Amino acid sequence: VRLAARCLRGLEWICAGELAGRIGARPARVEHRVVEFEAAVGPHLLSAGTADDVFLVAADFAGIDHRRSALSELQRQTERLDVEAPVAAVGRLRPVGRAAPFEVVASFLGRRNYNRYTVEEAVGTVLERLSGRRFLPGPARRQVPPELSWRVHLFDRGGFLGLRLPAVPLHRRSYKLASREGTLHPPLAFAAALLGGPAPGDLLLDPFCGAGTMLLEAGRLQPGAHLVGSDLDPEAVRAARANAAGAAASPRWLVGDAGRLAVRESAVDLVTTNPPWRRRLAPRGRLVGGIEPFWREARRVLRPGGRLVTAMEELEGQAGAIRAAGLAAVVLQRVAVSGAWLTLALHCAPERWRAELDRLRTGGLRPPAEALAPPPA
Ligand SMILES: C[S@@+](CC[C@H](N)C(=O)[O-])C[C@H]1O[C@@H](n2cnc3c(N)ncnc32)[C@H](O)[C@@H]1O
Repeated sequence: VRLAARCLRGLEWICAGELAGRIGARPARVEHRVVEFEAAVGPHLLSAGTADDVFLVAADFAGIDHRRSALSELQRQTERLDVEAPVAAVGRLRPVGRAAPFEVVASFLGRRNYNRYTVEEAVGTVLERLSGRRFLPGPARRQVPPELSWRVHLFDRGGFLGLRLPAVPLHRRSYKLASREGTLHPPLAFAAALLGGPAPGDLLLDPFCGAGTMLLEAGRLQPGAHLVGSDLDPEAVRAARANAAGAAASPRWLVGDAGRLAVRESAVDLVTTNPPWRRRLAPRGRLVGGIEPFWREARRVLRPGGRLVTAMEELEGQAGAIRAAGLAAVVLQRVAVSGAWLTLALHCAPERWRAELDRLRTGGLRPPAEALAPPPA
């Protein structure tokens, strides 16, 4: 069956790698924020950690340009759809009521003489007529939760119409009830865990744990890992503990300063973390003057073959301090999250650069040239 996963801008190659590796799917095409793939429909698809959502591709659109007349062309092409076939396929995964109301969510690339709401309305009215189910336009879906969610995604002059497989967006994690300012988008934390590649028995540390997303996602990827999270703020540690209660993982949580970690030398296999950054959440405690001392701490607690994965804005400004701490970048991937760009990075000891790249490739993760850091001199 043809499917499409939507992910954050920048995570496409990691998402494609996960679909091919963990999920056993066949990626066919990688577009801006979309990985098209083929797979048998089954509950395993819902375990894709890097995808914001997974859709069954019900139809392809062609010749949909920027003019307003494209809206009637979209309607004409939607008319040809056999609506019940994709609904029946989703119905094999989860209950779908006979009169299940639906929403349409549209997204597109490039400037157009129409907006997403006009696309949703155009396609929604046709789907309503074809299916006899109730279309919930924008404001109505706040009152009635839609059981079915159609997605119109337009790029260049083409695009597709998809039907979401899960009942709620895949990026919404049921464990994540307690939140904190600056808390991370779970699929990004899962992508960080994939880059870090924890093995069973490994010790993982997040010294800026906030609400715990990095470790809870890493634990989902590798249930056999030992997880330790700490944060300077006791409220953050409380939030992380509350979230862990609803997750499969059970990390140890501590209050502590990442400028002086209460962890012995060379004890940690993987540090996976989302440090504070100046623009929104300034570092505090021993790092109030800047995060630079943290890189030395990270290097101290990592075993020689250990790895550091970070998701952070303004990482570029830290390159000198990270190098001085004895760490070399292997992957530097820019990722767009909620209108801001951050960098998802994998670092290791300089002499491990080649081995780390081989490990990623063996695991099906192939960093594109623009995400690959040069080998250390
Ligand atoms: C960007 S947030 C982490 C968010 C987390 N990844 C999540 O998903 O919720 C950064 C965290 O660093 C913590 N922090 C700031 N300075 C610290 C320090 N010196 N040591 C430890 N934690 C610190 C803040 O309390 C905040 O929770």
